[in-house]
Amino acid sequence: MAAEEPPKMEDLSLSNGKPSPDEDVVDPWNVVGSADTGIDYEKLIKRFGSSKIDQELIDRFEKVTGKPAHHFLRRGLFFSHRDMHSILNQYEAKKPFYLYTGRGPSSSSMHVGHLIPFMFCKWLQDVFDVPLVIQLTDDEKTLWKDLKVEDALKMADENAKDIIAIGFDVSKTFIFSDLTYIGQCPEFYRNMIRIQKCVTFNQVKGIFGFGDSDPIGKIAFPAVQATPCLSTSFPAIFNGKKLPCLIPCAIDQDPYFRMTRDVAPRLGFQKPALIHSTFFPALQGAKTKMSASDPTSTIYLTDTPKQLKNKVNKHAFSGGQTTVEEHRKIGGDCSVDISYQYLTFFLDDDEKLSEIRKNYTSGELLTGELKKILIDTLTPVVQGHQERRAKITDEELRLYMTPRKLNFEC
Ligand code: TRP
Repeated sequence: MAAEEPPKMEDLSLSNGKPSPDEDVVDPWNVVGSADTGIDYEKLIKRFGSSKIDQELIDRFEKVTGKPAHHFLRRGLFFSHRDMHSILNQYEAKKPFYLYTGRGPSSSSMHVGHLIPFMFCKWLQDVFDVPLVIQLTDDEKTLWKDLKVEDALKMADENAKDIIAIGFDVSKTFIFSDLTYIGQCPEFYRNMIRIQKCVTFNQVKGIFGFGDSDPIGKIAFPAVQATPCLSTSFPAIFNGKKLPCLIPCAIDQDPYFRMTRDVAPRLGFQKPALIHSTFFPALQGAKTKMSASDPTSTIYLTDTPKQLKNKVNKHAFSGGQTTVEEHRKIGGDCSVDISYQYLTFFLDDDEKLSEIRKNYTSGELLTGELKKILIDTLTPVVQGHQERRAKITDEELRLYMTPRKLNFEC
């Protein structure tokens, strides 16, 4: 068994609100790389004080679960963690824990990048056979966007259907909208208040950069995202027991959980463990931001096969050369090529991927051919999603979103 990680201080003063000019900006609202190559993830691990997912951890994952590691782990797409070893210890000791993730339902249509944390959660849920709670922060989006409560609620429902379509086991999954569940569950609200009592304005200012003219709802919101880390917030599932939780998320969400890890022990809970993903790049390249208002910046789950094909062909940034002759001579650059990078997320066959890499780098494979491979890989993903989503009834949606006992003993 691997040694426990040395305890780390949750340094709340390590604000990522104001990085120096040569540092990447990564917080829940902004992701801006300072260099052409995009975000420097190694530096981010240092700045946030998390741990790198190294080969030793991946090996232990495989040994403890008896399953091959997911390609997101093998390829470093989930690259950082906090306390993952203690979750593996828990699993090894056959002790219960649960998964927690979430989504801010800001637009009714999700893109393929939004699938990544959920696909990973599904895999973790299947491998560990544990419950999963999914928070839809319609309250957060109401506070941050030009959005009415009523509209945010509708978007939460629409997003929940997309999440259900990923294939979560209904007997082990609870999806909730903050705007609905918090009013149904006094234990959730009581934990929220316990957390709010532990964090000062000064601390959230340091962590999130809030200012004097921000609405008070924003200042209080981090406690809402922290509350699902306390298992007693879900009495129907955990029956009042205090269980450890593991949070798969993109690394921009880490500030919320640095705060939570500071608070949880003071309330008698274990610190939540985390497993962090890199960001899914925009079609235009890793250094540009994916924008919900620019429909050409990525592939949406609602795109038709024709739209998908056109977007990839027209907009996917290419690491190839300008002419075929030059490309054959010099070869392509996979490290900036977006079609290749999307394949690292969606093509799970390692051998195929490494052959593509080799042939593109040598110039044998042309940009148009690489794009065709991506189109052929992504089209069935999006089509399959649309088919599954279309079959989800309102009844099924309500079932996932009803607080209830899950198939799980603790
Ligand atoms: N704030 C997140 C977003 O805007 C949503 C969220 C809530 C979340 N709880 C989470 C994401 C837990 C990851 C893990 O998308």
